[in-house]
Amino acid sequence: MLLAYLCIILCFTVAIAQSDQGLSARELDSLLQDYAFRAFVRPRTGIVFDGNVPSNLTGIRVAALRLRSGSMRRRGFLSYKEFHIPVGVIEQPYVIRLVLVYHDLGNWTTSYYPLPGYRFLTPVLGLLAYNASDLSATNLSELNIRASGEPISIGFAAVESEPNGSSLMCVSFRLDGSVVFDNVVRGNTCLTTVQGHFAIVAQVVAPAPAPGGGGGPGGRKRRSRRAWIIAGSVIGGAAVAVLLFVLLVYVLRCRRRKKMRRMEEAAEMGVPLPMTSVGYTKAPVALETRTRPFLENEFVP
Ligand SMILES: *[C@@H]1O[C@H](CO)[C@@H](O)[C@H](O)[C@H]1NC(C)=O
Ligand SMILES: *[C@@H]1O[C@H](CO)[C@@H](O)[C@H](O)[C@H]1NC(C)=O
Ligand SMILES: *[C@@H]1O[C@H](CO)[C@@H](O)[C@H](O)[C@H]1NC(C)=O
Ligand SMILES: *[C@@H]1O[C@H](CO)[C@@H](O)[C@H](O)[C@H]1NC(C)=O
Ligand SMILES: *[C@@H]1O[C@H](CO)[C@@H](O)[C@H](O)[C@H]1NC(C)=O
Repeated sequence: MLLAYLCIILCFTVAIAQSDQGLSARELDSLLQDYAFRAFVRPRTGIVFDGNVPSNLTGIRVAALRLRSGSMRRRGFLSYKEFHIPVGVIEQPYVIRLVLVYHDLGNWTTSYYPLPGYRFLTPVLGLLAYNASDLSATNLSELNIRASGEPISIGFAAVESEPNGSSLMCVSFRLDGSVVFDNVVRGNTCLTTVQGHFAIVAQVVAPAPAPGGGGGPGGRKRRSRRAWIIAGSVIGGAAVAVLLFVLLVYVLRCRRRKKMRRMEEAAEMGVPLPMTSVGYTKAPVALETRTRPFLENEFVP
């Protein structure tokens, strides 16, 4: 019975967890590389092409820009959406031409880049570099790019007004999974020397996240699912604990009852006293007094 109950709880939890399907941020990068490259219908170098995303990712914007690596290093690229590529950005390993893929995660920001304790004041923007030799390639791995002179800057177009009393910070999500915080410059700009994903955030002061605080609808859905999982686990755990307790009490009581019976049996066999039932208990009865009172006569006639 206990086992069946446990199984039900487990199955319930697994079912909830499985309904929370979705890509990891890195799988999304790979998918968006594919969709950004498809924007090169008539590829030209030095022109920004906006791409389309599948309907299940509506709200995300992608773009692709092909550059000769020598040109990128010597001249930079003044304005690629919000990104400013300065002189001196080099890639590794060396390729003749590269594609810079741009992401704007829009309302999917908190779904792919959850950051507990912080509120996003801008969407997450990404800049990733790929080998441009094969524009129909999928599942490409990123090149490393590095700003050897001035840093790359990201001038966010609109920064939500900062919540009371908290200061703004730039956050960068590196491809290796690390998260780095930095200061905001000129009110809306973040600086970086490497590729990755970037946003401006504010620390949440209140312990409870404000309703709609930075969360896109997806983020909220995911959070409520997580809350469900936690609630389910807690209730399930409590139920199991109660069951175990009841079982323990039952076992103990059984054992005590057995011991009592054994003692009773021993008593019945070991003591030759005749027993009689008084109600539900047995009690020894003396049929006759064994030591007869013995009158000590003090009067000796
Ligand atoms: C969206 O659909 C594409 C196919 O059109 C699929 O490859 C991708 O995994 C889907 N993305 C999500 C987040 O479900
Ligand atoms: C870039 O792609 C081309 C063609 O697929 C390949 O020959 C070349 O080795 C790649 N370069 C790097 C650095 O991966
Ligand atoms: C993509 O490449 C990685 C290694 O770079 C590999 O593990 C993965 O299976 C590939 N995925 C697909 C769909 O080809
Ligand atoms: C910020 O805090 C001050 C005082 O603590 C309060 O008067 C003001 O209404 C707050 N503003 C917002 C937007 O919460
Ligand atoms: C983002 O908005 C689009 C509509 O503009 C919607 O289809 C999509 O589901 C939203 N994304 C999330 C994560 O809610």
